Amino acid sequence: MDATALESEAQAAIAAARDADALEELRLHYLGRKSDLKLALRQVRDRETGIALNAARTAIEAALADREAELAAAAREEQEPFDPTLPGEQLHRGSLHLITQLRRRIEDIFLGMGYEVYDGREVETVWHNFDALNQPEAHPSRDPRDTFYLDAETLLRTHTSPSQIRAMQGQEPPVYLVSLGRTYRRDPLDATHTPVFHQVEGLAVDRGITLADLRGTIELFTSAIFGPRDVRMRTSFFPFTEPSVEFDITCYLCDGSGCPVCKHSGWIEMGGAGVVDPNVFEAVGYDPEEWQGFAFGLGIDRIAFLRHGLPDLRLFWENDLRMVRQF
Ligand code: FA5
Repeated sequence: MDATALESEAQAAIAAARDADALEELRLHYLGRKSDLKLALRQVRDRETGIALNAARTAIEAALADREAELAAAAREEQEPFDPTLPGEQLHRGSLHLITQLRRRIEDIFLGMGYEVYDGREVETVWHNFDALNQPEAHPSRDPRDTFYLDAETLLRTHTSPSQIRAMQGQEPPVYLVSLGRTYRRDPLDATHTPVFHQVEGLAVDRGITLADLRGTIELFTSAIFGPRDVRMRTSFFPFTEPSVEFDITCYLCDGSGCPVCKHSGWIEMGGAGVVDPNVFEAVGYDPEEWQGFAFGLGIDRIAFLRHGLPDLRLFWENDLRMVRQF
């Protein structure tokens, strides 16, 4: 038998096969037990004929496998024809959480003013969180009903102010830093309070620093976040600053004329600040005669909520995609 002729005849027939059944028939015909090829192989007497017949068998097997794959691909395409003109599937791009975006923006503003970013600790000692900040023993914020204590000496920080203490303990003045992060209070959950929230702390220590420097810094910061705004300071009290102030900015919505957001006062409360109390400098070993400083602290969640006109702080924690995807 002529192996080459058989092979080319089989190749042509396989290439012309239209479906899997036709291919199966050809497989039986050319490679089945009773096929000419198999019979010839059984009767082989010399080496050359054996090699030629085996080569033909291998080639026919490969042609069958190739044609089978071709037919399967064609069948798939028929079911789902590929249309290259259709638009691709739209993938939703993730984004940073609004609070993270704002934290980064605040860091950038202060880095631009030459401040460093200092990472404080969320688990703090009572000494760093209260004592070193001149907080009297009997101050109500020390109450376990207001503060999350881990044991008698440790707690979840109630504000970012202990970062001031840690930073000053670790370096000599001058100091210009901001410290941002999570803070914890046992506040009941409502539209303007969450038990976990975020603060930004600022501290500047240098020679001859006054309340006017504080005011200028706050004005620069708030106008970078909200656009140009008037800043108002009201006297207040914090144990770690003397004098202490609370500062407000003109309402971002009505520009001071009065609206529901600012409760018709024209002003929006931003946070607390003041001149660093000499007792705080003494606690960290700075000479209060030589160094002066200001500090401020404000709630990042409240800034985000005001800046975007959101109705409720709890939205930041619920991860509702309808809200998260807007930012
Ligand atoms: C302080 O925490 C002071 N450490 C701020 C400070 C720093 C004053 C340095 C002077 C010098 P206060 O308790 O007012 O202050 O909190 C500051 C801000 O945190 C508030 O204005 C508010 O925006 C935010 N805040 C307080 N409690 C909550 C809460 N439960 N949920 C969301 N934000 C809160």
